[in-house]
Amino acid sequence: MSVARPAASARLAQVGLGQWGQNLARNFDDLAELVWLCDLDDERRAELAQRYPGTRVTKDVDDILADDSIEAVVIATPVPTHHELARRALEANKHVFVEKPPAMRSAEMEELCELAEERGRVLMPGHLLLYHPGVQKLKEVVDSGDLGDVLCVYGNRQNLGTIRTHENALWSLGVHDLSVLLYLIDEEPAELWAHGHAFLNPRVEDIVFCYLRFPSGKIAHLHLSWLDPHKIRRITVVGRDRMAVFDDMEPERKVTVYDKAPEEPTTTYGEWRTRTGDIHSPKVPLLEPLRLECRHFLKLIGGEGDPLRAARDGLVVVRALEQLQASLETVAA
Ligand SMILES: NC(=O)c1ccc[n+]([C@@H]2O[C@H](COP(=O)([O-])OP(=O)(O)OC[C@H]3O[C@@H](n4cnc5c(N)ncnc54)[C@H](O)[C@@H]3O)[C@@H](O)[C@H]2O)c1
Repeated sequence: MSVARPAASARLAQVGLGQWGQNLARNFDDLAELVWLCDLDDERRAELAQRYPGTRVTKDVDDILADDSIEAVVIATPVPTHHELARRALEANKHVFVEKPPAMRSAEMEELCELAEERGRVLMPGHLLLYHPGVQKLKEVVDSGDLGDVLCVYGNRQNLGTIRTHENALWSLGVHDLSVLLYLIDEEPAELWAHGHAFLNPRVEDIVFCYLRFPSGKIAHLHLSWLDPHKIRRITVVGRDRMAVFDDMEPERKVTVYDKAPEEPTTTYGEWRTRTGDIHSPKVPLLEPLRLECRHFLKLIGGEGDPLRAARDGLVVVRALEQLQASLETVAA
């Protein structure tokens, strides 16, 4: 059994330093030793060399892979490059943190999981919301049984935000909600359907609706869209006895539990009534989810926790994305 060691001593390299990558670099630089930064863009490299004077900068990922002192590689490049870069890093015996989703096909994700297991390396997809204290609280509420049997989970992720041209709303937005709803329900879906439409860019759906049904009978729904007047970041869990909502747009009340449910009184034959009781909001620590996510990766590479759990969960997410995408294409054809 390996012995856990301090995260600050971990020597890391990061590939991809765009908008999101810079947030990762800030955190990993604070928490560990960020030795290499790699980006194809000349201006970005020049800017980063100034911001991180002690760090080596390159445009060639091979420089990193050839450096035996590097234990882990952080990948924050565009999605279509993830699988290839992650595979190469694992083959070079590095631990890998890779932005979501690590692959666009489940066969590729399976290959990464097998490789990580074979090499005894950590493979962690960047499913940020799983480290969000609000999502952790929602999971705690669901697992406590307070809601009764969970019947339905639905996610809303809408806003007039960055409209991506190489990823549709399913892959760009839906990956977040899928990771959360699979975590909450803890089953693989038995049936998946998606409908959507590409209004702005050909074949890049900007509005997508998904339906999932699970072996236990639970169902889930996602509304994902870049064409919307509201900014909504919400997950709702409908239980037989109570209902709970995680709302990331709320500054303080991230989770709310509603004591509301239908009831079937024994006195009235075949009629349902509704019960509305207290509404309360459990305390959720205001901690940066990205910081917690980076810390988790460093703990894993330091020998704490199951090194492959996150990768296996990530595989279920990629499988679901792949099936939803196939459904989207079938319906559109
Ligand atoms: N977890 C989250 O909440 C979250 C939020 C935003 C983005 N992301 C993910 O982060 C990743 C990056 O997104 P972004 O918004 O920073 O994109 P971006 O386009 O701003 O940056 C990508 C960077 O990668 C560089 N790059 C591309 N191919 C490369 C290669 N082969 N080698 C080295 N550098 C390469 C580009 O030059 C660019 O600087 C994406 O996978 C995205 O899905 C995650």
